Amino acid sequence: MASWWDRIVVPRLIACGCTQKELMELRHKVVPKAHGKVLEIGAGGGANFPLYDRTKVSSLTGIDPSPELLAIARQRAAGDALAFELYEGVAEALPFADNVYDTVVITFTLCSVSDPAQVLAEARRVLKPGGTLLFLEHGRSPDPGPQKWQRRIEPLWKRLTGNCHLTRAATANVEASGLILQDHGSAYQPGYPKLLAWMEWGEARK
Ligand SMILES: C[S@@+](CC[C@H](N)C(=O)[O-])C[C@H]1O[C@@H](n2cnc3c(N)ncnc32)[C@H](O)[C@@H]1O
Repeated sequence: MASWWDRIVVPRLIACGCTQKELMELRHKVVPKAHGKVLEIGAGGGANFPLYDRTKVSSLTGIDPSPELLAIARQRAAGDALAFELYEGVAEALPFADNVYDTVVITFTLCSVSDPAQVLAEARRVLKPGGTLLFLEHGRSPDPGPQKWQRRIEPLWKRLTGNCHLTRAATANVEASGLILQDHGSAYQPGYPKLLAWMEWGEARK
């Protein structure tokens, strides 16, 4: 049973913190590239939903373990012409068959899952051959100063923020998953403390 902090405070922090203008702009680099049958892992409150290109996406399946965030996501999806299916569950064990999705989208979620390698293995399993993983994550700074502080603060930070880690390296994890990394980028997001500002995004093919 999740604590009241995780049930009440964390979903509000996520719904608000993850829809800041600067982060929405970063999402524009990634989410509109999705096409066909799409799976969004850690769909949260549905912050990405408005950014999918309705002319390219045929259906959108989302999965997330938080009933509170899924309730927000369902409100966002209500009345949308796009076919949505939202499931409660964890991405380490996706309840979907092999080789079914054209695109898997993961944004600001590999930081929070229990086992990023297992989640990426699952993403790879459910992607069709030739399918695309799109990702956007914050993570480990390449600079020793911020990295040292990320390591120091992470134990407390992850307890307050629904298991969000500061030191995970998204692009390296995607490469290690066996998917073939294509376009990718990284930069500090201006206006954010360096502990939180290192962003990595890209796409990878199965
Ligand atoms: C920082 S939020 C990001 C939400 C959303 N992806 C976005 O970009 O706004 C992290 C999300 O990961 C979800 N999450 C945590 N552990 C997970 C797991 N094992 N499998 C799938 N999602 C998970 C949380 O419930 C939360 O919705």
